[in-house]
Amino acid sequence: MKAALIGCGAIASRWVRSLLADHRIEIAALVDPDKQAARALADRYELSPAFATTLDEARALAPVDVVVNLTPPDHHYRVSREALSQGLHVLTEKPLALNLPDALDLVHLARDRGLLLAVMQNRGADPGFLAFRDTVRLGGRPPFVVTADTLVTLSGPGFRSGQHLPVTTDLAVHAFDQVRALITAPPTEVTCTETPTGFLAPHSALAAITVRFADGSLFTHRGGYIVDPFLRTDANGTWCVEARGFAARWAPDPANRQKAAEAGPPAYQRCITAMVDALHQADAIPVPAADNLGSIALLDAALQSAVRRRPIAVPEVPDVRP
Ligand SMILES: NC(=O)c1ccc[n+]([C@@H]2O[C@H](COP(=O)([O-])OP(=O)(O)OC[C@H]3O[C@@H](n4cnc5c(N)ncnc54)[C@H](O)[C@@H]3O)[C@@H](O)[C@H]2O)c1
Repeated sequence: MKAALIGCGAIASRWVRSLLADHRIEIAALVDPDKQAARALADRYELSPAFATTLDEARALAPVDVVVNLTPPDHHYRVSREALSQGLHVLTEKPLALNLPDALDLVHLARDRGLLLAVMQNRGADPGFLAFRDTVRLGGRPPFVVTADTLVTLSGPGFRSGQHLPVTTDLAVHAFDQVRALITAPPTEVTCTETPTGFLAPHSALAAITVRFADGSLFTHRGGYIVDPFLRTDANGTWCVEARGFAARWAPDPANRQKAAEAGPPAYQRCITAMVDALHQADAIPVPAADNLGSIALLDAALQSAVRRRPIAVPEVPDVRP
């Protein structure tokens, strides 16, 4: 199959490396209004793709079966929708979309057209985090009190410097993917504030997000783009869970890359392999992004809460099983 990568910024290297290692997908086109970014990516990996600034232009230059959507989050819905409307499969970076109606629209469109729609969920699928989830499931009984801190430093902030609510828009969905693995009761209400801390760096901000659940469980997440590497957490965050008679903590060391490497391929590579497996499966093409709608419902409520400055009820995710 032939892919067009749309968006050639920081995260594109990770995808190119994984797709080249997989061998089942050829990178036929690189699409970015920033032509230099696309050329630099091609040079770095010795690719010879078609270069384009739009999907239409790319399709006029090269055959395309699948779009890899690596644009900033507020472009995800439009770019994925355009691709699906043109009969192309979509693998997209997170978040699937910024609100539940847009995400549902994409899932329905993919299903109606028999196309793959898959979204990156590398933090929720991290093997270390899944082991922690298993510890919680085996030892604890809900309701739970869960806290998570994810403080991230970036070598290049990219779109985040100009993004309204960058932490909630870009980072929070990882924590939502993760907490949904720990607390299975329906979430009811989200309160979110995000405050820019531009005195540290233009993209720097801190978000505080509290989620209430129907079984009484409570999740509080502190996410931020900070500057000093000494203070950062692992990108998976630092997690604490308490229940009656049970306590567990997961705090991976961000400096211990060796240990992570020993655990096998990184979670993002496993996710990309699973997406490519799904593309090549013999029977009906699945829409794995449907399983991510719960995270988008939380993101939708969090963004509304940050804008309106009040708690917001989490929208109900309709049953989208085929
Ligand atoms: N899963 C993860 O762990 C992870 C980590 C980092 C980033 N991401 C996600 O990857 C995406 C991109 O992040 P990044 O760090 O590479 O950002 P970036 O700012 O470095 O790159 C974005 C690129 O998209 C291009 N672009 C903007 N609008 C476009 C359009 N309409 N069509 C084509 N190209 C367009 C920009 O010119 C830029 O080159 C975001 O959704 C982000 O959330 C995921």
